[in-house]
Amino acid sequence: MERETVFKRRLARHYDELKWLYCELYEGGIGMFEELVKAMEQRSRERDRKLKRLDKKREEDLDWYKRNDMVGMMMYTDAFAGTLKGVKEKLDYIEECGVRCLHLMPLLDSPAVNNDGGYAVSDFTKVKESLGTMEDLKDLAEECHRRTISVCLDFVMNHTSEEHEWARRARAGEKEYQDRYFFFDNYDIPAQYEKTCPQVFPTTAPGNFTWLEDAKKYVMTTFYPYQWDLNYRNPVVFNTMVDCLLNLANQGIDVIRVDAVPYIWKELGTSCRNLPQVHTLVRMIRMICEIVCPAVLLLGEVVMEPAKVVPYFGTVEKPECHMLYNVTTMASIWHTVATGKVSLLKHQMDVINGLPREYVFLNYLRCHDDIGWGLEYDWLRKENMEEVPHKRFLSDYFTGKWPGSMARGELYNDDPSSGDARLCGTTASLCGLEGALETGNQEAEEKAVACDQMLHAFMMTLSGIPMLYSGDEIGQLNDYSYRNDPAKAADSRYVHRGKFHWEMAAKRTEKGTVQQRLFSGIRRLEEIRKKLPVFLNAAAVRTADTGDPAVLCLIRELDGEKLAAIFNFSGEEKTAYINEPGTYRDLLSEEDLEGVNVPMGPYGARWMLLKQQI
Ligand code: GLC
Repeated sequence: MERETVFKRRLARHYDELKWLYCELYEGGIGMFEELVKAMEQRSRERDRKLKRLDKKREEDLDWYKRNDMVGMMMYTDAFAGTLKGVKEKLDYIEECGVRCLHLMPLLDSPAVNNDGGYAVSDFTKVKESLGTMEDLKDLAEECHRRTISVCLDFVMNHTSEEHEWARRARAGEKEYQDRYFFFDNYDIPAQYEKTCPQVFPTTAPGNFTWLEDAKKYVMTTFYPYQWDLNYRNPVVFNTMVDCLLNLANQGIDVIRVDAVPYIWKELGTSCRNLPQVHTLVRMIRMICEIVCPAVLLLGEVVMEPAKVVPYFGTVEKPECHMLYNVTTMASIWHTVATGKVSLLKHQMDVINGLPREYVFLNYLRCHDDIGWGLEYDWLRKENMEEVPHKRFLSDYFTGKWPGSMARGELYNDDPSSGDARLCGTTASLCGLEGALETGNQEAEEKAVACDQMLHAFMMTLSGIPMLYSGDEIGQLNDYSYRNDPAKAADSRYVHRGKFHWEMAAKRTEKGTVQQRLFSGIRRLEEIRKKLPVFLNAAAVRTADTGDPAVLCLIRELDGEKLAAIFNFSGEEKTAYINEPGTYRDLLSEEDLEGVNVPMGPYGARWMLLKQQI
C-alpha cells in the first residue's frame, strides 16, 4: 500500500509536465502516454526493496554523488575479468583502486562481429552470453552496493544492431517494424539528409544511410551500417526503450550513461544533432527515473563543444542530465601535452570555472573512444595556430612522428585529403612510456611517468568526478593484438581497450616499478582529495598567472581553505611565478613553500595547501 502511495506521490509531482511534453511530441498520443504510465507503475512494483530503500536515501540526499570521495573507473568486463562473475571476484582490486563508481562498458546482447564494442545491441533485456546473465549483473550490482560502489551502464538508445528482433522484422518487410527505424524506398530523402547531416565515421563508415539489398530499401545508419537509427517520432519506440531502461535500473544500475544522446532526434534540413526534441526526450527520461527509480542518475554522452554540452544539464527547475563529460577539457589537456603551452587549457578552465557549481562534470584523460580534436580554433588562431596544420601537428606528435616525441598513438578515421584525424592510445602510451621503454631511454621513462602522474593530478584537481580507465592506474600500454582480429582490425580504438594485465598489476606492490609509482601516486591523490573539503564542487576555482607559458596554476578556495595546484607541462625545470602570498604545505612532496616563485620539476605537479595563520 505504502509503495503505491510513493509511486503516486512521485508521479503527481511530474505528471502535468510529463504529459504535456509527451503529448506535444506525440500528437494525439494520450493513449500511448497512459500505456507508458502503466508500464512505469509496473516497473515500480517490480523494483526490489533494497533498491527502494536506496531511492529513498538518495532522494533525501540529492547531492550524494557530488562528494570529493567519488572516483570512477571504466572497463570492459571481458578485458578486465572475462565475465560478470569474474568482475565480482575482482572487486577487492577495484576497491583497492579507491573506485566508488564502476562503469561497465556495454554488456547487453550484441552480435559476435559487427558489434561496435557492444554499442550495437541486439537484445536490451539480455546480457551477452559470454559475459553472463541478468542475474549475474544483478548479483554484481548488489555486491557493489554492499561495498558502496555504484554501477554505471550504457544505455545505447540511438540505434539497435541490425540483428535486433525489430530490425530483422523490418528487413523482412513488416511495416510496423520499419516504422521504428528510418526506412526509404529510394535515395531521394536520404540525399536531402546528407546535405546537412555531418558524418560520424567518415572513413570507417561513410554516409548516414545503408542500402539493404534484400529489403530493397535504404535505412538510416548514422554510426556503422549495422547500427540502425531508431525513430523516436514513433511513441512505441520511446515507450519500449524507456521500459528497457527501467528494467536495467531494476537490476541495480545506479548510473545510466545515455549514449550518443545528441543524435536521437532527426529532422530533414538540420544537422540532426542537439535538436530541441532531444532535450524534450531527455527531460522526460529524467522525470520518469525520478518517478520510478530516483536513486538513478543520468550521465549524458555529449561529445561536443561546451556551448552544446551545457544545455544537457537542463535548468534548475527542469533538470535533464545529472552529469556530463568534460570533453573539451580532455582534448585541451592533450593539446597542452603536445605543445607545452598552457594558454588554451587556462582559457578552457576559465570557461568551466565560470559555470554554475551545481553542474557535475565527469573528468577523464581518455576513455574507450578516440580523442577528437574539438578544440577552440577561433581562440587558437590568436596564438597563430590554424586548425588544419595544428591537427596535423597533433597527429604527428602523438604517433611519435614529430622529432623528439615518445608518444605512441594511432590515428582514427584519418582523412588524408583534409588532414583531419582523431587519436587513440592509452594514457601511458600517449605520455611516452611505451616509446621510452622501446628505446630503453631511462630519462624519457622518468619523464613519461612524471607526465602521466601530473595529468592524473590535474584531472583530480578539477571539480566533478574523476574517471579512470581500467589499466591506466598501472600505466598499461597500447595493445596491438586487435590488428590480428578481423572483427576489430579496422577500428583502432581497440588499441586502448586491451586486456587487463594482472601480472603487471601484481607489480603495484614492488617498490620502484612503474606500476607501483603510478598506482600509489593515484591512490595518494585520491586519499588527499577525499579528506579536503576544498575539493568539493562548492569550492570557488580560478586560474592564476604563472609567468611561464608551460605552467598552469589553479586556485581552489572554500570556507577559508585554499589550495594552489600547479602543473608543469614541460619536461624542463621551471619556476611558477605566482603571487599568492603565504606559506603552503605541498601535500604531494610534503615540503613547505612560499606562494611565490615556486620551483617545479619536469612535468611536476604540486598541491599546495595554505597553512592557516595561528
Ligand atoms: C558512443 C560510444 C562509441 C560508439 C557510438 C555508437 O559514442 O561511446 O563507442 O561507437 O556511441 O554507439
